[in-house]
Amino acid sequence: MPHEWNAKEYERLGDPMTRWGGQVLERLHLQGNEIVLDGGCGTGRVTEQLVAKLPHGKVIGADASAKMIEEAKERFAGNPRVTLLVADLTEISLPEPVDAILSTATFHWIKDHDKLFTQLAKILKPGGQLVAQCGGVTNIAGVMAAIEEVMRTPPYAAAFEGWHGPWNYATPEETQARLTRVGFTDIDTWLNPEPVTLSSREHLIDYCLTIILGQHILRLPHEQHRAFTEAVVDARLRRAGEPSIDYVRLNIVARRS
Ligand SMILES: C[S@@+](CC[C@H](N)C(=O)[O-])C[C@H]1O[C@@H](n2cnc3c(N)ncnc32)[C@H](O)[C@@H]1O
Repeated sequence: MPHEWNAKEYERLGDPMTRWGGQVLERLHLQGNEIVLDGGCGTGRVTEQLVAKLPHGKVIGADASAKMIEEAKERFAGNPRVTLLVADLTEISLPEPVDAILSTATFHWIKDHDKLFTQLAKILKPGGQLVAQCGGVTNIAGVMAAIEEVMRTPPYAAAFEGWHGPWNYATPEETQARLTRVGFTDIDTWLNPEPVTLSSREHLIDYCLTIILGQHILRLPHEQHRAFTEAVVDARLRRAGEPSIDYVRLNIVARRS
């Protein structure tokens, strides 16, 4: 299930995602007059770059988090070319199909990729492009080892018993097969490492609280959120020697047949 985000903090801390989003956006072939969905638009930092590429087009930004959409609405206030919706991508419906779908740093938060891609195929015009990037298999494996170490330790262990975590880090092969099954063609899927080193222990704590551990901490009482996050960060620092995150991205380019 999608969870609420601290949108103000995401806006402050989301530099890596904005940078990658700009690179992914370059893979969309646009004339400038299309209607494009940004699926999981967050606060709109990548959406803003998309809007700049569509001087005569329109952008629909959709996100399951009402707080993210609230922040995005502030960003695009008064812009008639941007429509913002609170919507779950596995259930989204639109008044008319779009020319293209962009999605960055979102699909790995969605467990059921069959349902996701089936829905995206429904709202994309025949011939329309799907260009996306999300966490892929082995994403943040080193950080996850630190998270699991702390999750197994009292006083946190009971809260995580039987929970398999929030993410779906798919392989390029299974993603290719899923997209083929639901009607995509010209599919290319691949992984690339994108390691990030943050400026300090404190920076990694804030980043984990808002981004990486957003769903983990919801299983804990509020007074444990910070202590749990600090324990994870310290376990990561012991292992890596620096405030680094071993990101691996899954890239997707496909066309609706
Ligand atoms: C890491 S943020 C990425 C935001 C933006 N695309 C960026 O690159 O900065 C992930 C976003 O995915 C959204 N999300 C997660 N599950 C979703 C779902 N099922 N449907 C729509 N949005 C979802 C979250 O609410 C969050 O805003």
